[in-house]
Amino acid sequence: MLRRIVVFAAWLIVLAIAVPTLAAQAKLDAEGHEWWQHAVFYEIYPRSFADSNNDGVGDLNGITSKLDYLRQLGVDAIWITPCFPSPQVDFGYDVSDYENIDPTYGTLTDFDRLVKDGRERKIGIILDFVVNHTSDQHPWFLDSKSSKNSFHRDWYIWRDGRGPGEPPNNWLSTFGGSAWKFDATTGQYYYHYFYAQQPDLNWRNPAVEKAMFDVTRWWYKRGVVGFRLDAVDALFEDPNLRDNPLLPGKNQFGDPNMLRKYNTNLPELHKVLMGLRTIADESNAVLIGETWTKDVEGLKEYYGKHGNELQMPMDFLFTQVNRVSAPDFRRQIAAIDSSGVWPVYLLSNHDIVRSYNRYGDGKNNDAIAKLMAGLYLTLRGTPIMYYGEELGMENNDPKRKEDVKDPIGKTGWPREKGRDGERTPMQWNDSANAGFSTVAPWLPVDPNYKTHNVESEGKDPDSILNFYRKVLALRHTEPALIEGKYVALNQNDPNVLSYLRQYKDQAVLVVLNMSGTAQRARFDLAKQGFGKGAPTALLTTIKPEPLSIETIEMPPFGVYIARLTQ
Ligand code: NOJ
Repeated sequence: MLRRIVVFAAWLIVLAIAVPTLAAQAKLDAEGHEWWQHAVFYEIYPRSFADSNNDGVGDLNGITSKLDYLRQLGVDAIWITPCFPSPQVDFGYDVSDYENIDPTYGTLTDFDRLVKDGRERKIGIILDFVVNHTSDQHPWFLDSKSSKNSFHRDWYIWRDGRGPGEPPNNWLSTFGGSAWKFDATTGQYYYHYFYAQQPDLNWRNPAVEKAMFDVTRWWYKRGVVGFRLDAVDALFEDPNLRDNPLLPGKNQFGDPNMLRKYNTNLPELHKVLMGLRTIADESNAVLIGETWTKDVEGLKEYYGKHGNELQMPMDFLFTQVNRVSAPDFRRQIAAIDSSGVWPVYLLSNHDIVRSYNRYGDGKNNDAIAKLMAGLYLTLRGTPIMYYGEELGMENNDPKRKEDVKDPIGKTGWPREKGRDGERTPMQWNDSANAGFSTVAPWLPVDPNYKTHNVESEGKDPDSILNFYRKVLALRHTEPALIEGKYVALNQNDPNVLSYLRQYKDQAVLVVLNMSGTAQRARFDLAKQGFGKGAPTALLTTIKPEPLSIETIEMPPFGVYIARLTQ
């Protein structure tokens, strides 16, 4: 009997040691990479993706109905911008209940189905966590503003004015005007970094921290595989409310320019990120950050000193290279790639003009769209696509002020037209409303839907869509694209951006003509050990395909991606 007990106890010890090790190992591949490092992320603006109930606004069931399309495209995780209950002042970025779904988008049951159907197709669901502020209709804020003694008073930032009619300091909302709003009920001002309908939470209050941390636990239990954290740089403010320094000139809202020294990027925010990460790690989940920074040094801070904050802070510096330029992209890629972190690349999102417009020259836009995909989808790092980018969707900005939906555009017109242009309905086919809905959608479909849509492009082997499908398939199958290091080549070439992704004895050569004229690229890769073998073209817009890499004739904006073996 005693022997049995001893054997049983020994087994328990073995299990106790083995189980956590196995769980940890399950995260890693041979190179120590985690699941999100090999995943392709895809941002969905739910109002505009697919409208299952034909009310003109997209919804969760619409997204679920398109999971097969996403799987076929090569997407592994979707980030859905806020779909929680909200008055929709900022189209969901004003949350009035963090643990439910807005009826516009469906129900929790629809959400559960999306998670389940996603899982069956190996597509994870990432939600958008609006951490900095709530809606002014959130019960926490309604209680907070009801009296100075209310339970939630200290959940937000309330202060007396400097004097009659004068806000507590000079801080400006990033959406225009003072960042303080007077509330007559209690005679104090509350702080809002964004719209007045988006009061900032007081993260110095431990009760706020606990409530928000619990929100993430709640969704992890429901099956989400991570969060995109909204506006993380704005989480904390100087407790002494020191005035921000003014800068010369005015912004698009006519406000003086200002250095947001005392209300962004305060060091306290890192403790919150560490806390969120600890909880994420329990579910093997990923945290993506909306991390605008002025340089790579600033971006690195979001990963955490010990890699214990965000796994995926987005590199917006990459999106700020606003021209198709080999030297500019070379410099930007080198800066992040050599900094010791795992890069996170994107071309645009729901706040940024679509890449088709930003990089297009008006004549070669489709070729340039492929070129840009050939670039950021072959780099070492995780890409985040924006819905419709794979079709060559373009901005459809409002022509008249009365058509603008985004409040920024209403306040800033005509200098700031708002973000409606990059948020238009997904283009599924060339029928009315681009197959998004049977009724007029909430934003007008871009006229290019007649040619740039899923159905038509699916039939054309040379379409942008099929280029994306091919490059994403390579990303998932070519060992050098999965694991390889980035090796810059021909670094003085002003027109052609070239690099290797190299892994053991394999390499993928990427050659991108970033100019509107034909170029000749020459390679001698003897030093890298790839001098001899003939290249195997994997994906190229060049015809005929080159037989050797010694000299490659590149047409304007041409792409050549080939496997090399030693
Ligand atoms: C960043 C989001 O991306 C943007 O769309 C939103 O308006 C602000 N944060 C406020 O939440």
